[in-house]
Amino acid sequence: MKSLIIYGSQYGTTKQYAEKFAEMTNFPVISYEDIKNVIDYGRIIYFGGLYAGGVKGLKNTVKKLSPNTKLIIVTVGLADVCDKENINSIRSSIRKQVPEHLLKVSSFFHLRGGIDYQKLTFKHKTMMTLLYNKAKKIPEEKKTAEVKAMIETFNSKVDFVDFTSLNRITEII
Ligand SMILES: Cc1cc2nc3c(=O)[nH]c(=O)nc-3n(C[C@H](O)[C@H](O)[C@H](O)COP(=O)(O)O)c2cc1C
Repeated sequence: MKSLIIYGSQYGTTKQYAEKFAEMTNFPVISYEDIKNVIDYGRIIYFGGLYAGGVKGLKNTVKKLSPNTKLIIVTVGLADVCDKENINSIRSSIRKQVPEHLLKVSSFFHLRGGIDYQKLTFKHKTMMTLLYNKAKKIPEEKKTAEVKAMIETFNSKVDFVDFTSLNRITEII
């Protein structure tokens, strides 16, 4: 099956995963911003950074796929990917971005990325500061994995990128 890796990455962690996966599989890799004709690919492995729940570039990309495409969606975020509630929340936001016919034949993987506050755009820094100030007031027992990750990493630099987590994806290919 003809396969292509597409990624949506703002600060590079998702791109690192996508490029490593390309090295592991020998599949071509491209940013979602550069895709033109992808109708011929039977399988797309989409790596997307999580931004306020949404998967960067995914909505634009699925519009360009053939209806029979086998889609593998790999999200990259900060929150704990062993947390069930976090996974449910990511999956529910994916459902809003991907049409039903593609979802039915999709597989999902969730990886951890990283953040460096010194590199954030002014808009993202402001957004995170507002969210952080709100999150601090949430009672401990009500804090989701997303909220916890945000509080723990606020204003710092963390890197959770772990290429061994890609092995699980190669197993289904
Ligand atoms: C504005 C903003 C919103 C974010 N929202 C989420 C989120 O909803 N869930 C999550 O797990 N991580 C979230 N993150 C963390 C990013 O997903 C994480 O930094 C990821 O590694 C970014 O990928 P990239 O480096 O490829 O752009 C957010 C980061 C920023 C700056």
